[in-house]
Amino acid sequence: MKNYKRYLITSALPYANGPVHIGHLAGVYIPADIYVRYLRLKKRDVLFIGGSDEHGVPITIKARQEGVSPQDIVDKYHNIIKSSFEKFGISFDIYSRTTSKIHYETASEFFKTLYDRGEFIEKTTDQYYDEEAKQFLADRYITGTCPHCGNESAYGDQCEKCGTSLNATDLINPKSTLSGTPPVLRSTSHWYLPLDKHEAYLRNWILEENKDWKTNVYGQCKSWLDQGLQPRAVSRDLDWGIPVPVEGAKGKVLYVWFDAPIGYISATKELTPDWAKYWKDKETCMIHFIGKDNIVFHCIIFPAMLHAEGSYILPTNVPANEFLNLEGDKISTSRNWAVWLHEYLEDFPGKEDVLRYTLCANAPETKDNDFTWKDFQTRNNSELVAIFGNFVNRALVLTQNYFGGIVPQAGEFNDFDNVTFNEIASIKKNVEESLEAFRFREALKEAMNLARLGNKYLADTEPWKLIKTDEGRVKTILNISLQITANLAILMEPFLPKTAESLRKMLNINQFEWETIGSLLLPVGHKINQAELLFEKIEDSAIDQQLERLTRIKAENERKNTKAAPQKEPINFDNFSTMDIRTGTILEAEKVPKTTKLMKLKVDTGIDVRTIVSGIAEHFTAEELPGKQISVLVNLEPRKIKGIESQGMILLAEDFSGKLIFVVPENKTDNGALVK
Ligand code: 2FM
Ligand code: ZN
Repeated sequence: MKNYKRYLITSALPYANGPVHIGHLAGVYIPADIYVRYLRLKKRDVLFIGGSDEHGVPITIKARQEGVSPQDIVDKYHNIIKSSFEKFGISFDIYSRTTSKIHYETASEFFKTLYDRGEFIEKTTDQYYDEEAKQFLADRYITGTCPHCGNESAYGDQCEKCGTSLNATDLINPKSTLSGTPPVLRSTSHWYLPLDKHEAYLRNWILEENKDWKTNVYGQCKSWLDQGLQPRAVSRDLDWGIPVPVEGAKGKVLYVWFDAPIGYISATKELTPDWAKYWKDKETCMIHFIGKDNIVFHCIIFPAMLHAEGSYILPTNVPANEFLNLEGDKISTSRNWAVWLHEYLEDFPGKEDVLRYTLCANAPETKDNDFTWKDFQTRNNSELVAIFGNFVNRALVLTQNYFGGIVPQAGEFNDFDNVTFNEIASIKKNVEESLEAFRFREALKEAMNLARLGNKYLADTEPWKLIKTDEGRVKTILNISLQITANLAILMEPFLPKTAESLRKMLNINQFEWETIGSLLLPVGHKINQAELLFEKIEDSAIDQQLERLTRIKAENERKNTKAAPQKEPINFDNFSTMDIRTGTILEAEKVPKTTKLMKLKVDTGIDVRTIVSGIAEHFTAEELPGKQISVLVNLEPRKIKGIESQGMILLAEDFSGKLIFVVPENKTDNGALVK
């Protein structure tokens, strides 16, 4: 690792329009936190910056949906996000927000500097305007038919059905989501950052000087650069945001992607009066942790802004991750298809590290990946409990049992002891190499190899068999085993900080420095504390509960997306009155053998008691039906179903999730009452 004088680690500022979910954690915050904790253990000068992104259309849309002000929205979600990060153990040095005073000042000043220096161009273009709502429409406020796939609810910037990027003017029959009326084109002027002017510089900086960036990041940048950069608007007509700080800009605010990355600078300013050396000194290593949808903003637009300003450094690396899916489907805030961090913390108290472990072990580093609850359970039960927890527990409990919790004096190491012990240093080296290349999955796997090593050492040396015959040898074995646990407590700290802390408490150690990994950390005679279980098994019932929640959400979403079936052909009253519909009561119910759907019912129709076969067995049990009052079409021609004569039809509504519901009288009434 090149030795930089200091490190500035930023993590994408999440929009304060919803809580954070596992996709955010796996893509950005867990890798950033691991990296920062590693640097701290290496005693580097490091700042870890986070905060909420509180401007832009995502906020105003949420505010409209909830019928409150944008300020209410950002206050609510900023607090939820901030406290869930804290509880989860993301170790920001500061978690700020872009509605702070210092951020308004910093972002305005940045804009003004570029403006005064003539770094912007002003352009007038036609944009959609809602005459009823009296405002220009951001792309997300316009829907219409996608010219590519015919989807009638495509947005002005993208069709979510076919994935095509669109311009609002591409939409067929555009409609404003504010008033529902068709928008009109009206001219408006904005400030643009001429990215084309900086293209050559950026091209050289990324494509030549940063060839070591992750393939996905490098590839996306190259593709943008190869298409040729265009001037990019840095202001918007919107009533939520930082006002454009120049005269004649009434009603205009800074584009959210102009102000948000400046949020990293303002947060650093808020944190320390020394902020400038982290941003302006070439001996700072600046790293932006982000998701792949943020690549262009962090690798092209923000660097162009910093370069145009002239006094700032550019990032050393931008290790963007791909996306995490959930149980095979894209994570989506609007569809509630996510595992929300604040809910996880309530459902699995004390198991923060299990989620960290699972999300890191399965991080979407080079391609999109899937989170499944089954995998979460397996990783916990078969890896954390069975390997890590098991080893630590055996080493500590044996020491308590045989030597009263005192680190015993080791005898001379044999070859196997030496090989085992020396392996610690090589694991350290492998973990370092992987971490420094931002390969966190690999780093974690390598770190777990130390727990595996310990397990194998105990299994091979079997101290529990030797204790009666060779206590001296057992002392050596347990000394080495304890040294491995102490090394684990440091090596694992970046990945599983809460576990590492518990382990240090059990081992009764404060020593805490990366470079000591590979050495004998526990002196002979040192007293350790009682062992406690580091991890516990996660039962099927906990996983089933999560899966049931997701099934419910899926059904709700399907329901929301299903429209009522179109109306059938008209009929006249006489047609209708030929149908004889009565209220009746189910007396008996019995599933038709060898079928999945059919239920044989005995129904009192008020006219008679008759048999009706109905396709409801997947929706109701035979036990719950007797006594239910229902509506029956009694003059339907009898027909044989599976050899049983069915004399009528029960009326049911099928809701948009496919669930069947009886059409019943509002109050219990006589059997045989005519429905008309
Ligand atoms: O994609 C997002 O969630 C943005 N709010 C990230 C902003 S990162 C930075 F520039 F602030
Ligand atoms: Zn489409």
